[in-house]
Amino acid sequence: MGEWTEESFIAAIRTGKHQGQPNGRAILPPMPWEVIRETTDEDLKAIWAYLESIPPIENAVPTPVPLKMEE
Ligand code: HEM
Repeated sequence: MGEWTEESFIAAIRTGKHQGQPNGRAILPPMPWEVIRETTDEDLKAIWAYLESIPPIENAVPTPVPLKMEE
């Protein structure tokens, strides 16, 4: 979260793109961004304010593994 801003957080939730970047990879399931995107700006800002109040930690996130759809 140390790299995030309120703008990138809200853009990620609204667009389903990693860190809200236009060319970012798709955010994978089970993250339910299609549902959370319906949240009001006021509520997303409140969630961001809470997240930002937590001190960041050092954490290497594993490389995402894309879904394999069954034929
Ligand atoms: C209000 C509720 C939630 C918020 C605000 C939230 C927020 C986020 C954010 C900001 C990311 C990073 C997206 C990115 O890479 O840019 C993320 C990733 C993720 N979330 Fe959530 N999330 C919520 C609920 C959930 C729930 C309920 C689940 C699962 C049951 C979930 C599962 C995941 C997973 C698996 C990822 C990693 C996706 C990926 O790397 O592609 N999240 N979430």
